[in-house]
Amino acid sequence: MTSIDIATGRDAVSDGKLFLHEFIRNPARTGAFAPSSRHLAAAMIQPIPRQGDPVIVELGPGTGSFTQHIEARLAGRGHQVAVEVNPTLAARLAARHPRVDVLTADAAQLPEILADLDVPHVDVVVCGLPWAAFNPATQAEILMAVNTVLTPEGAFTTFGYGMWRWTPAARRMRNLLGEAFDELVISRTVTRNMPPAFVYYARRPKRPAQREDAAALMTAAVGS
Ligand SMILES: C[S@@+](CC[C@H](N)C(=O)[O-])C[C@H]1O[C@@H](n2cnc3c(N)ncnc32)[C@H](O)[C@@H]1O
Repeated sequence: MTSIDIATGRDAVSDGKLFLHEFIRNPARTGAFAPSSRHLAAAMIQPIPRQGDPVIVELGPGTGSFTQHIEARLAGRGHQVAVEVNPTLAARLAARHPRVDVLTADAAQLPEILADLDVPHVDVVVCGLPWAAFNPATQAEILMAVNTVLTPEGAFTTFGYGMWRWTPAARRMRNLLGEAFDELVISRTVTRNMPPAFVYYARRPKRPAQREDAAALMTAAVGS
């Protein structure tokens, strides 16, 4: 599925088709039937600084809807890392973005992945993970991993679909973000996305001294 057409140099299968194929194979893990739009991508990369050499980590890049916009914003500055659990999607991404460190791995392993890359901290995490499909323990575990690697002023963006905004999983996610970060802002609905989505902008991770561990985080989120 990741082959490149020798004559044209293009991927033989479009991103849309590949994404749908992976969704049919594993709907829960893929979390969407189509890649996000450039409008959602523009909203997701807002916190990436326009100057300096920031370290940007993307979780769940899929076919790269956000990756290409992150790369364009960085324009050769800083360091871009992408962590994708699906090997088919990761292989396509790596072939297309040779300047990006693409790792085939679980986002929960983020601290270990960054230690292997010798990256001590991260300025912004752009996250496309399917939160609604994760159980509370996995949500808390991944947020803890993110929280551990971000700088004190670090930012985390992720998105949810408007139609699921009031489901228990989405409310739990909002509560978790409120527990894990000092600041949480939720965007207006990005209607030019299928389905329409909204973005969570979280800033300044609370440190373990303020928030004991993943279990405490989860209890707080479920109970609040
Ligand atoms: C909803 S798709 C988003 C893809 C892309 N960011 C976009 O918006 O078009 C979720 C992606 O997260 C990946 N994923 C799911 N669980 C993951 C995990 N534990 N670690 C890393 N990637 C994961 C899926 O394989 C899929 O590519």
